[in-house]
Amino acid sequence: MIELTNVNKVYRQGNQQYHVLKDISLKVTAGEFLAIVGPSGSGKSTLINIIGFLDNHFEGHYQFNKQEIGRLNQRQFASLRNQKVGFVFQNFKLITNLNVGENIALPLLYAGKRRDEINERIEAALDKVGLTGFSSKMPKNMSGGQQQRVAIARAIVANPNFLIADEPTGALDSHNSADIMQLFTDLNRELGTTIIMVTHDDHLAQMCDRIVKITDGRISSDKGMRSC
Ligand SMILES: Nc1ncnc2c1ncn2[C@@H]1O[C@H](COP(=O)(O)OP(=O)(O)OP(=O)(O)O)[C@@H](O)[C@H]1O
Ligand SMILES: [Mg+2]
Repeated sequence: MIELTNVNKVYRQGNQQYHVLKDISLKVTAGEFLAIVGPSGSGKSTLINIIGFLDNHFEGHYQFNKQEIGRLNQRQFASLRNQKVGFVFQNFKLITNLNVGENIALPLLYAGKRRDEINERIEAALDKVGLTGFSSKMPKNMSGGQQQRVAIARAIVANPNFLIADEPTGALDSHNSADIMQLFTDLNRELGTTIIMVTHDDHLAQMCDRIVKITDGRISSDKGMRSC
């Protein structure tokens, strides 16, 4: 599904250049649950921003389902992002003045879905994350773990091909982290959701099928099953 070949990323600031990703070649097959680990500043977020179609300023090749990303215009690139990937971030990024259902509806509204279908899909997504009946709650009245479940429901509601999660448990205590990790594992095992997760937590990384380590912008190790 995902195939990066010799991807390089250079940030330019004034006269300075920062070569942040160096000759990254990586294949991810549908159904994988992959952890990306590595020291702070090693390039993990930069890499998943490229994989998740947030950034198309890089050198090298990215083929998604055999399609070369570099050939797409901005409109095609944006529609790929809207249709193919769901995002989960450390700080949830829920919209605080919208209720749970309205937050989850956002990707469907962008996709132009009808109201009755939207309502059905919100309920189904809430069921999948274990928050049945929470649609009219406000995020601020929920725990961090529950808010992250809402963010995961929003990420999966439009049936993306894969999920990207950047430190999804970084703001949670160990109990809530374990619950969120269990939810990801269930989504992967039971629904076949492809998940690419950045984590600092070795214990959580061990629960994934495959661990890719980034050191100073390069893949320094890649261990585990390639698909399940
Ligand atoms: N917009 C930018 N402009 C210039 N340099 C950047 C930019 N974004 C990131 N960098 C640099 O690129 C390098 C990699 O950053 P990145 O955010 O990918 O690291 P990371 O592995 O995700 O780190 P962390 O674990 O702390 O989140 C760092 O040295 C960072 O300072
Ligand atoms: Mg990061």
